[in-house]
Amino acid sequence: MILDVGAVAAGGACVARADDGRVVFVRHALPGERVRVEVTGETKHFLRADAVEVLEPSPDRVTPPCPYAGPGLCGGCDWQHVDLPVQRVLKGQLVEEQLRRVAKVERSVEVEAVPGDVDGLRWRTRVQLAVDASGRAGLRKHRSHELQHVDLCLIATKDVEEVGAERLPWPGAASVEVAADGEQRVVTVTGRHARLPDVQAGVVVEGRALRAPHGLRHTVLGRSYEVAAGGFWQVHPGAAEALAQAVLDGLDPQPGESAVDLYAGVGLFGALLGERGLSVLAVEGDARACADAARNTADLPDVRIRTAPVDAAGVRRIGSPDLVVLDPPRAGAGIETTRALAALRPRAMAYVSCDPGSFARDLRVLLDAGWSLVSLRVFDLYPLTVHVELVGILTPPAGR
Ligand SMILES: C[S@@+](CC[C@H](N)C(=O)[O-])C[C@H]1O[C@@H](n2cnc3c(N)ncnc32)[C@H](O)[C@@H]1O
Repeated sequence: MILDVGAVAAGGACVARADDGRVVFVRHALPGERVRVEVTGETKHFLRADAVEVLEPSPDRVTPPCPYAGPGLCGGCDWQHVDLPVQRVLKGQLVEEQLRRVAKVERSVEVEAVPGDVDGLRWRTRVQLAVDASGRAGLRKHRSHELQHVDLCLIATKDVEEVGAERLPWPGAASVEVAADGEQRVVTVTGRHARLPDVQAGVVVEGRALRAPHGLRHTVLGRSYEVAAGGFWQVHPGAAEALAQAVLDGLDPQPGESAVDLYAGVGLFGALLGERGLSVLAVEGDARACADAARNTADLPDVRIRTAPVDAAGVRRIGSPDLVVLDPPRAGAGIETTRALAALRPRAMAYVSCDPGSFARDLRVLLDAGWSLVSLRVFDLYPLTVHVELVGILTPPAGR
């Protein structure tokens, strides 16, 4: 089919119309282009397709820097073919659309680059590779279990690439994760019968530490954090600091105040609030992350770590903190938990989100309960992909 493609949709594909009236989501295209497409999937209501030939290119199109980006190849990046500043404009439009459609909020959004990002390349401090039956590692193709074998990944940092995991054999392994920060490197392997190549890195197999280091150490706003291999930490080297600064600027924490840090991970936000003289309750569901959080806040007696799920019942028990930070996974806090949060009366709340859709849904719950969205910052933590990170600052209805 030859199609004229329109606006970008959530997920990064552009919307077009097939002759039979069905919507077509076209990957590897840009708004305004005429492209020849190959259909890659279909339902009764829509088609998925790849632009395999560009007949009328957009002025915003660039040659993908990565040789593995393109129809049928690596599924890791969505927008290798889009000029970097234009990626940010498109991401802003996608966030605006979610806010308009789901939260019923009209707001113009500017997507900010994080400090240190020059060309959108070499930012992944952690890369997950899948391993096939022959022991070759690779990256997954888009919406597929098939692997794209690569010699290098251009969005991985130089430190990650120096481990060379893509080029090594991993017989018996199911997956390999490489995380690196400067000289510290850790490889985390799953697969009980994995035979390992010689790597210049710490090694953890099926949760067993075989060679040190068994985790990484990161510094944010002058504070040091330990993260065990395989544990959650922001992937872009500039991300944790950009988010932490946005949360601190937005909340303006004062010594003597109390705060809760929900979905606390290894204590990124809780520790910084504790350092500023607040008493903090950090709640996190993963026991290993809590162990790291306890170590990372050991010098702060007023920071308590609670290993527990964040849910509506738990939120109802947290009392009346002055400040709330929440940083849930992609699914967001959810309607019930957000209703419980809406009933709290803190001075302010910071909602950190990696998914504009779930953020907009939860935002609507807070707005319906009389809360105000005071500010919204959106960061480009994942260049060349469609993803962004949001930091919303909210205040409860007056009369607390
Ligand atoms: C996006 S990470 C944020 C971590 C931390 N705030 C940071 O910036 O490094 C989300 C965290 O929520 C935790 N988590 C996911 N679902 C949870 C739940 N229902 N209850 C508690 N923690 C949960 C995960 O283990 C993960 O550490």
